Amino acid sequence: MKALVLSGGAGTRLRPFSYSMPKQLIPIANRPVLAHVVDNLRAVGISEIGIVVGDRAEEIRSVLGDGSSLGARITYIQQDSPRGLAHCVVIAREFLGDDDFVMYLGDNMLPGGIAEVAAAFHARRPAAEVVVHKVADPRAFGVAEVDAEGRVTALVEKPQTPVSDLALIGVYIFTPAIHEAVAAVGPSARGELEITDALQWLVARDAEVHAHLHTGYWKDTGQVEDVLECNRELLKAVHPRIDGEVDGQSELIGPVVIEQGARIVRSRIIGPVIVGAGTLVEDSYVGPHTSLGADCVLSTAQVEDSIALSGATVQQVRVRASLIGRSAAVSLAAPEGLNRLVVGDHTRVEVAAG
Ligand code: DAU
Repeated sequence: MKALVLSGGAGTRLRPFSYSMPKQLIPIANRPVLAHVVDNLRAVGISEIGIVVGDRAEEIRSVLGDGSSLGARITYIQQDSPRGLAHCVVIAREFLGDDDFVMYLGDNMLPGGIAEVAAAFHARRPAAEVVVHKVADPRAFGVAEVDAEGRVTALVEKPQTPVSDLALIGVYIFTPAIHEAVAAVGPSARGELEITDALQWLVARDAEVHAHLHTGYWKDTGQVEDVLECNRELLKAVHPRIDGEVDGQSELIGPVVIEQGARIVRSRIIGPVIVGAGTLVEDSYVGPHTSLGADCVLSTAQVEDSIALSGATVQQVRVRASLIGRSAAVSLAAPEGLNRLVVGDHTRVEVAAG
């Protein structure tokens, strides 16, 4: 079995981060979303992985390379523009051949893995197996109507009036029957070739499309709040490890990872927390659910429930529920009390009353 991971697309909801990096590379618990995706595929024995990339191809390639560091063999498949999920299957035809394959949206996180859905597929080998999850507002998703046996009877992409609360959550397992379906559908109202329409095409021709109900944690990491929430979830499972230096005046409480070359000086850290390689934390407090990337500097700062990407600097300020970009600097305002901001497009700044 192969896998097709979709990592093209625009990622406008994750601005300003998506200006400088593809959303699929945003780190959760200090690893890019795509690395978590590849881990889940490897865990069910899949090593032959095609990754559909768009105009951010180079950056994805420079992080994942040929896949060998993750135990996988990666083939990159270039998509000229985001023409839809079914279009990705069309352009991957040569890579996929006549194998069954997992299609995995490269911005979806299922920390519990995909072993259950893989087992459900292998048990009956329907034409397609989709993963569904109960959501409060299904209108932003593909929605499936499912009978008592788990057979999908209808699917609609982002319906105004959903027929059920079962959203498709970014993992699909296909037999080669999908190729005829993706070739048959035309563009949707939003101008994309929808995989949901291809699945509906199969259902309409009495092919078996089966739904696996996922009850564990799942997140589409499309927005900043989702990224922070997912980070919290993954840090719950962190195994404490100290590979860097912690001085005698510092205190670590709870599960804390200090990576190689990181230094903790006169600071207090309450886990779950990850401090990335080469990062300096001095005279600071780092609170629960925080991931600091590599080579950050925290000085006389308080940071909790946040993610700082590599090279970020936080000095003399208190922040929480924040996502701080690569080499971004957050520091105290000049003594006259006026804030000085150098803020990029689509950035969000919330300043405490003062
Ligand atoms: O998150 C689950 C939802 O994902 C499903 O419920 C929907 O049925 C499905 O259509 C999809 O909806 P989104 O509108 O959220 O898809 P998005 O545009 O975010 O694309 C999902 C991933 O696929 C993302 O990693 C970008 C990639 N992609 C997307 C398109 C449209 C491509 O690689 N090529 C594309 O042409």
